[in-house]
Amino acid sequence: MHIEKYDGDRSALLPLFALADDSPKQISGYIGEGEVLVARDGEEIIGHAQITATDTAGTLELKSLAVSPERQGEGVGKALVAAVVAHCREHDGRRLIVSTATADIGNLRFYQRQGFRMCRIVQDAFGPSTGYPEGLLVDGIPLRDQVIFEHDLGAV
Ligand SMILES: CC(C)(COP(=O)(O)OP(=O)(O)OC[C@H]1O[C@@H](n2cnc3c(N)ncnc32)[C@H](O)[C@@H]1OP(=O)(O)O)[C@@H](O)C(=O)NCCC(=O)NCCS
Repeated sequence: MHIEKYDGDRSALLPLFALADDSPKQISGYIGEGEVLVARDGEEIIGHAQITATDTAGTLELKSLAVSPERQGEGVGKALVAAVVAHCREHDGRRLIVSTATADIGNLRFYQRQGFRMCRIVQDAFGPSTGYPEGLLVDGIPLRDQVIFEHDLGAV
């Protein structure tokens, strides 16, 4: 497996983007932004990470991250986050943020294992008004609130 910058057609990565975000409306708004790294096993793309700018100088966002279901749990996600952190440092990033649903317990564990710390909660970020189906459950918890994580890139 190796990780490299992706310069191809982003729509070819839609199944991966859709794994990371339940709202096609949201995805279509940001899929073309920033830079994308992909994890490849030979010719096959098995994961992706999208890095976008934010309104704050020095702060970059890990906007989308996913690993193909059949390749999860092998360390690919961890390797993608490490590559994103290295990429951000090379581009003078001082802080990396990522957001996920508070309902997604697995993601809460995953990001904290990769060095992120929670910094903010946005209540009712997910719902019909933002393009998410009504009544969606994750791990039995209503998909409703969002947590923002941050990674201080100055820290070791
Ligand atoms: C989240 C995701 C990218 C993790 O990628 P992955 O390749 O499966 O993760 P890794 O194998 O690198 O795991 C790294 C660590 O995170 C843990 N982890 C990963 N997914 C986890 C989960 N769902 N629940 C609990 N722990 C998890 C692993 O156990 C491992 O822990 P360790 O460091 O103690 O060994 C992947 O599960 C995924 O694509 N999920 C669907 C899309 C998604 O939710 N994206 C994030 C949206 S914000």
